[in-house]
This record gives sequence, structure tokens and C-alpha cells, in this order.
Amino acid sequence: MKRLVVLASGNGSNLQAILDACADGRLPATVAAVVSDTAHARALDRADAAGIPAVHIGRRPGESRADYDARLADLVSGFDPQWVVLAGWMRVLTMNFLGWFPGMVVNLHPALPGELPGTHAIDRAFTEAQAGLRTHSGVMVHLVPDEGVDDGPVLATETVPITNDDTLASFEDRVHATEHRLLVATLHTLCTSPHTLIPHPPQGALA
Ligand code: GAR
Repeated sequence: MKRLVVLASGNGSNLQAILDACADGRLPATVAAVVSDTAHARALDRADAAGIPAVHIGRRPGESRADYDARLADLVSGFDPQWVVLAGWMRVLTMNFLGWFPGMVVNLHPALPGELPGTHAIDRAFTEAQAGLRTHSGVMVHLVPDEGVDDGPVLATETVPITNDDTLASFEDRVHATEHRLLVATLHTLCTSPHTLIPHPPQGALA
């Protein structure tokens, strides 16, 4: 069983997909801890409900990003993870964190590689579609080697269409359903493969 530590800032629906897949045997892994930078993140309640350590680590007043990340690394390394999963973690990590987990940090982002980095990617894709600028967006799972925002070696992608009769809510639901599936499938591959970098695969598939 591979040990995962999941970092989540908010709702935690992707965390829930991981927890469900671990619980019913689809994912040969165990979530060792869920860590949030947000005190009242629903993700922490989901971890509690699953009987998994749920830890809030907030940034202290005046604390630098680098110092916060050093404390975060200390906390996460104590749970001895094989993979650190950013599932709705809305803070850019510095090398003070990433340097401790080389090739081990996996991020989920609701857009295709090179598109719409940062927050509100789903809303921005929908707005662009309304303006006739796009007909689809997507989801990607990638490694996080450095401080690049939603950027790094791609593990898996899937295109998500935006239809003419979509509302933001219906498009958002489709993106999240895709994320839940793609994240679990990607983690399954990582947890059952040798612990090495995977080259850029064709869309929707892992090498
Ligand atoms: C997900 O859509 C995830 O891809 C996104 O936050 C959401 C979290 O949802 N992450 C980013 O935008 C990272 N830049 P959840 O809390 O329900 O899992």
C-alpha cells in the first residue's frame, strides 16, 4: 500500500474521490493524512469522517512563504508519504517544500497544459466559451518540480467539451466528474508503477 498525503484548501471533492477509491479497493493506497492551509476547509471534515488525521496549518502573521513551506514540509514528511497530492491546494509551493519531495508532488488542475493557470480556471474557460473563444477545456494531472504555477511534467489529461446549452454549473459538474476519475486513475498508475518520472503520455492515458 502506498502512503498518500493529500493537501487541500477547500471543498475536498477530489479528496473524497481518493478516499472512496482507497476504501473500496480501486486504489491500492492509504491516505496517511489530509493537510489544509484553511481552518474550516470541508476537506478536513471529510478526512475526520474517514478516520484520517486532519491537520490545519495556517500561515502565521508576517511569516514568509518560505518559512511556512518549511513548517509544512516538516509536518508532511512526518507522515512518510510516497506521494503528496495537491487536490485543490490553492497556494504556490516554494522549493522549501518541494525540495523535500523531489518527483513526489502531484497536482490536479482544471485546464489543459499551458492553459488558464491559477485560480478560477473553470469560470475563465466558461467565460471564454461564451465569448466564442473556445469550445472545450479540460483537466490535467502533473508533477510539481518547481514553483511554476499549474505547470510541470504532465501525467494525464482529458478534454472536457463546453456545449451551447451548458451553464457554468453544468460545465463545472462535468469538469469535476472528469477530475475525480482522472485523478484516481493517475494515482492508481503511480501507486502500481516503479517510482520514476513518466514521460508525457498521449491524451487521457498514462505511459
Ligand atoms: C479542483 O477543480 C482543482 O482542480 C482545483 O481546485 C478544485 C478543488 O475542488 N485546483 C486548482 O485550481 C489548482 N490551481 P475540490 O476541493 O472539490 O477537490
